[in-house]
Amino acid sequence: MKIIGGSASQMLARSLAQELGADLAPTVSKLFPDGECYVRIEDDLDGEEIVLVQTTHPNDKFVEILIIMDAIREFEITSLTTVIPYFGYARQDKKFNTGEAISARAMARHIQLQSDKIITVDIHNPDVLRWFDVPTHDVSGMPRLAEYFKGLEQPPEIILAPDEGAKHRAVEVASILGCESDYLKKHRIDGTTVEMKSKSLNVDTKRVAIVDDIISTGGTIVKATESLKAQGASSVLAACTHGLYANNALERLEKVCDSVVSTDTLETATSKVSVAKGVAKAIRK
Ligand code: R5P
Repeated sequence: MKIIGGSASQMLARSLAQELGADLAPTVSKLFPDGECYVRIEDDLDGEEIVLVQTTHPNDKFVEILIIMDAIREFEITSLTTVIPYFGYARQDKKFNTGEAISARAMARHIQLQSDKIITVDIHNPDVLRWFDVPTHDVSGMPRLAEYFKGLEQPPEIILAPDEGAKHRAVEVASILGCESDYLKKHRIDGTTVEMKSKSLNVDTKRVAIVDDIISTGGTIVKATESLKAQGASSVLAACTHGLYANNALERLEKVCDSVVSTDTLETATSKVSVAKGVAKAIRK
């Protein structure tokens, strides 16, 4: 087996190669002066089972994955498993308005053309996987975040999801940590003020962690953290699988949260947790 890491997923590709005891195939990926992408695999892939790791965000990383796949298919490989740690466009998973594209489907249709198996990590809506005609597996990053929490000097005492739909993630983390979990509910105080409150737990004097799949603008977590602190939480740790941090979100988060952590599905200053273990397990299946 050989691992190929696209330019968006070098960290994870290295960890995955280590986890699987496989070689990382040296690959050059660069941009021409006009911005077009150039890829060259500097290894012999003939007769190999290949695992390609590449997040498809931002847009140029999607173009790159298509080009890497083409380079891989120039060899006589036995199979190609494509790991998409952060699957860009997964949130446009239906037509919210007439005339819109189902962007997640458009992306899936192209990626699957060259893949024998697809592995994603905490894909926003698992229903998106039905658009791949090849076997798929979505890996949860929550056990890895839970392990990270466990290793802290003062682990969180309460795990909260930002909304009811994400409750399962908080439950998954809390069951590993052996602590309580809940989800946040919005309460309108007046025309301009909205407070977020744990549905049934008292956070006063407690160390709290909020877990989510994605932090994008950070709006949800900033609001939640401010509310939880006002309710007496002694600390608030923000954790997510995919740290997108649009519009300087990280700066805003660091002003209100005690710490911010994410996984290596997107390589950022907060990628302190690797999802390699879960991805390796899905590859071995
Ligand atoms: C929403 O459904 C997702 O799970 C995240 O809660 C959302 O993407 C976070 O967005 P933002 O960071 O912009 O508040």
